[in-house]
This record gives sequence, C-alpha cells and structure tokens, in this order.
Amino acid sequence: MHGVTPLPLGLAGPPGRPQLSPAQIRALTGDYRRRLTECVPWSPAMKWRRELNLQGATYGIRELFPTVGASLDPVHALGHGLYVDSPGGSFRYCVRVQPRGRPLLTWWGSQVGTVIFDAPVGIPALFQARPGYARDDPERWNEHPWMSLTPAEYLTLRPGTRMARGHTVVAGLGLAHQLIEVSRRLQVKRVTLVELSQELVDWLMPVVKPHLRKPVEVVVGDAYDIIPQLRADIALVDIFPGYGNAQRKIDELAARSPRIKKFWGWGSSEMSGRKLRSR
Ligand SMILES: C[S@@+](CC[C@H](N)C(=O)[O-])C[C@H]1O[C@@H](n2cnc3c(N)ncnc32)[C@H](O)[C@@H]1O
Repeated sequence: MHGVTPLPLGLAGPPGRPQLSPAQIRALTGDYRRRLTECVPWSPAMKWRRELNLQGATYGIRELFPTVGASLDPVHALGHGLYVDSPGGSFRYCVRVQPRGRPLLTWWGSQVGTVIFDAPVGIPALFQARPGYARDDPERWNEHPWMSLTPAEYLTLRPGTRMARGHTVVAGLGLAHQLIEVSRRLQVKRVTLVELSQELVDWLMPVVKPHLRKPVEVVVGDAYDIIPQLRADIALVDIFPGYGNAQRKIDELAARSPRIKKFWGWGSSEMSGRKLRSR
C-alpha cells in the first residue's frame, strides 16, 4: 500500500539537478502558503482530489503501537522508543513525521496529486529489512515501506474495502488497515487473511486481534499459490510494492481461482497501466 514518499520537490535542488528560477520558487511558495490557509478536516470518507489540504489535528489514525513516538530521523537511526522491531528483526514499525506544509504524493488511477497538512502529523509505517544486512547497517531497511497510513493509502484501499462481503479473502497483512476495516463491515461474515511472512503474522496478529470484529482465519503462504485453492465471495489483494502495475497479475490470479466470485487488487481497479509509483 504506500509510501511516506515526500514529493521530490527540492525548491533549491542539489547541484547538478535542474534548478528552479527565483520566480518559480516564489510561485510555488505562494501556492503552498495559499493551500495552508485552505485546510479542511480529514475524513476517511473524503473524495480524492488533486490538491488535498488537511488540518493535521484531525488526522486521527489507528496506531498499532500507540507508545511509539514520531520521528524525522532515518529509519536505521531511530532511538529508543521510536520504533518496534519484529522478534526476528525482519520488520520495523515506526511513525514518520510529516512536517507542516510539506507535500506528500497522492494518486488515483492514472492521476497524481499532493496532500499537505497545516500541522505536523505522525504517519505509522512498516519497513522490511533487506536480507543479509547487519542490524546497524544504514542500508538495512528497504527505502520504501510496505505500508504507511497516508491519505493516499486510505483513499486507494477504500474502493476494495467497500466491496467486501460474506466470506472475504484479504491478501497482504501490512499494517492490517484493510483487514481491520473489512472485519468491521456489517456485510462481512468471515475473513481469510493470506500473508507471506510467518514472522509478520506472529508479531502483528496478537496486536491486531483486539481491533477485529469478525472471525479471521490466517493462512501463511504465497497468495499466488494459496488463493486459487480458496472458495470465497471476494478476494482483496494488496501484495504489491507499487501502485499501477497490478491489473495483469490480478487477471491471471482470478483466472486460476474459479471458486472466488470477485477480485479487487490495489492499484489495478482504477488504473490504466501507467508508470509504477512506490508506496
Ligand atoms: C502493502 S502491504 C499490505 C498492506 C495492507 N493492505 C494494509 O492495509 O495494511 C503488503 C503485504 O503483502 C505481503 N506479501 C507480499 N507478497 C506476498 C505474497 N506473494 N503473498 C502473500 N503476501 C504477500 C507483505 O509481506 C506485506 O505484509
């Protein structure tokens, strides 16, 4: 689902990169000042727009580890109290600070936009370690998180969540955002979660459990192998690191899964196959 990827907007970019003219910088700065005066309360039900200007104080999100503090420090250099690692050390939960007025990318189908907040907000994120790196190696953590609870993630997962009913398969645990939302829908009777990582399941599911409202069966394994063996009303598949290249994979999975009535894939339902955007 989706990154704390700030907009690569170096107003006075690094040497060697195209520089903005003073007039362009003035125009951009003026634009962000205007946006900061137009911020509205966040609602998970709000529609995507190219420009989302949000009141930071209203961005209430579920934190799986509420005692973890928010930080701007690099993921590998976080201090005590600013992260939780899975017992095997393969995953790190932390809360990234999104500073006031700094644009974050959003996307909707083939369209791209930005969101800004009028106050700093904490955005929970889940990083996975690259195999073979030492614990203190700055390169240890993948640059892009598997999941971060940005507005873009909320808005792009919502169409799938709204399709959940009866027996729903959710593929991809991540931060369990979609799993929890699906389990809270009246139309849903039970859920089967399919997740590749046993370590992630063992670590997070006990934390997630109190948030669930329906029975959830967990199957650990590769969704591409497991899902074709299941019978369900719908499968919601979010196992993709980037937005925009999932349609072919979903079509192929659906063709091999005759006992699942409907499929939805993150980054495929509204996509027209444009360039990949990392989470
Ligand atoms: C983007 S995260 C899912 C985020 C989740 N939708 C949420 O709301 O928090 C992707 C998850 O899919 C899992 N995953 C990746 N490839 C997979 C596969 N082939 N089969 C099953 N799970 C997979 C990853 O371990 C990760 O937990």
